[in-house]
Amino acid sequence: MGDNLAQKILKSHLVSGRVSSGEEIGIKIDQTLTQDATGTMAYLQFEAINTPRVKTELSVSYIDHNTLQTGFENADDHAFLQSCAARFGLYFSRPGNGICHQVHLERFGVPGKTLLGSDSHTPTAGGLGMLAMGAGGLDVAVAMGGGAFYLKDPKVVKIGLYGERPDWVSAKDIILEVLRRLSVKGGVGKVFEYSGPGVLSLTVPERATITNMGAELGATSSLFPSDEQTRLFLKAQAREKDWIPLAADEDAEYDEEITLDLSTLEPLAAQPHMPDNVAPISTLADIKVHQVAIGSCTNSSYLDLMTAAAILKGKTVSADVSLVIAPGSRQVLTMLANNGALTDLLDAGARILESACGPCIGMGQSPASGAVSLRTFNRNFEGRSGTADAGIYLVSPEVAAASAVTGYITDPRTLGKAPQIEVPLSFRIDDSLIIAPGNPETQIVRGPNIKPLPVTSKLEDHYRLPVVIKLGDNITTDDIMPAGAKVLPFRSNVPILSEFVFSKIDPQFPARAKAAGKGIIIAGHNYGQGSSREHAALVPMYLGIRAVLAKSFARIHKDNLVNFGILPLSFVQEEDYDKIDVDTNLSIIDLLEAVIHNKPLVLHIDGTQTKIPVQHNLTERQAKIVLAGGLLNYTRES
Ligand code: F3S
Repeated sequence: MGDNLAQKILKSHLVSGRVSSGEEIGIKIDQTLTQDATGTMAYLQFEAINTPRVKTELSVSYIDHNTLQTGFENADDHAFLQSCAARFGLYFSRPGNGICHQVHLERFGVPGKTLLGSDSHTPTAGGLGMLAMGAGGLDVAVAMGGGAFYLKDPKVVKIGLYGERPDWVSAKDIILEVLRRLSVKGGVGKVFEYSGPGVLSLTVPERATITNMGAELGATSSLFPSDEQTRLFLKAQAREKDWIPLAADEDAEYDEEITLDLSTLEPLAAQPHMPDNVAPISTLADIKVHQVAIGSCTNSSYLDLMTAAAILKGKTVSADVSLVIAPGSRQVLTMLANNGALTDLLDAGARILESACGPCIGMGQSPASGAVSLRTFNRNFEGRSGTADAGIYLVSPEVAAASAVTGYITDPRTLGKAPQIEVPLSFRIDDSLIIAPGNPETQIVRGPNIKPLPVTSKLEDHYRLPVVIKLGDNITTDDIMPAGAKVLPFRSNVPILSEFVFSKIDPQFPARAKAAGKGIIIAGHNYGQGSSREHAALVPMYLGIRAVLAKSFARIHKDNLVNFGILPLSFVQEEDYDKIDVDTNLSIIDLLEAVIHNKPLVLHIDGTQTKIPVQHNLTERQAKIVLAGGLLNYTRES
């Protein structure tokens, strides 16, 4: 029996465990990336590990999330990140150079390599045939120091693409169809491997749109083979030397197989407020639109924006619509400027934003109250846009551009023939905004916004923990630790950040947690879904949270809880969730024995006879990390 592609890459990077065992494996990481929102912590952590230079083949620090200079805090953070990159041996992608995933695809990604990024959409690079995964900044710091990355050996799902894509059906519609079928929980613990004749018709940036939104499925990663399309893309990026052919063996086996007949697809949208709430555009056709945003790491490539420009050329954006466009990279923006497409966009009335995440992370362009915003992005969680009651629809650039003109959600098939965009044989190469690794003697620049790294103590044997908050299902990392213009400048200032924890759900939470000094969080299913934001574990740790008891966890967030010494517990009997109220106290005894030997654990509700059986399901390594008070303590000790 041959290997599938995921197995091949995992086997060639295996450090511990056994591929296809379903158990924890450790793999060597070739490349890492960070972005500024997670990077400041990652480099403080790397510094604390005490390794002079990164040990990966290549590591890049990007500035793309918070590029607005509203106060000294951003400038401080950027200076800190630039000095860390020089000192520790990383490439530094300056603000304005583009969104990390787009730039990584263009300038750094290599088929067959492993990439770990402190951003949940790191699997975008799977469009190039990399095994790319999102993780917390601390995991990335450890990988930069030469440590292995540990994950549960994933199930591998084959998605066979067959049939011919109809006009106006884009890569975005393919992944929205997968989300419609499998839901935001459908990818947990899985790698999606795309194959079949339909793969050939997809360019690398289109493949990257699909692998990007694998994150919305909750997947560990998504992968395309490295084929002729990959070679042509790398050649056009003047990097043909990085190309190798890579594909699954003919007789490869998969844990699951799904078939998608591309000829049956039509333009789709994810409706408010979940990426899997998918409906055909044809059923949404008369909804009035107030804002259209084209960009983000999902759909901001040269082909995406050329398609939008072709649709908008010679037309005028509806008077009731604000059309904002953020090109994914400076390469994309300068190519549009050189070939005249930028003028077509401006003539149509588009507002051009910096090449950065921008509105996707709530940095500007929040829609008006109650507005409908069509976005080519990957997430539409309630409030993420910065406007609590806005309705966000996730769509392709084709639907976005067509709707910007009419002012209503518009099926682009009504426009006639789809534009045929020529795939460039060479992209414009200018790496002058990428600074190569610098002098190891570089002094780290530490402004007043760079606060020391908080640490926690070792796990104790007994706790009496007040329930400081009780939450429902699908709590996102955004709900736990919001981003946006008010919060992002303090990404390296945990004392200030702690005032925003759960502020969207329960503004009293920070004060209550501080007063309690310690506590436990109760939650429903899929706690911590949505991103790799480790601040969603780090800042609660700072507030004294020692455990989270949930019906289930999102993978990256569970890992982040472990990394920060917070014990992730799940109910043995889900109905016990109803027995716990806020402000009750839960007592835990003999905790160390239970964690070390994976024994059953029982929580007692104080003042009652009620006992709640719980489980932790930690691997031996994770148990040691929690016992040590987090990955940083564990790494220093080992
Ligand atoms: Fe940035 Fe949004 Fe992607 S915040 S990295 S464009 S998901």
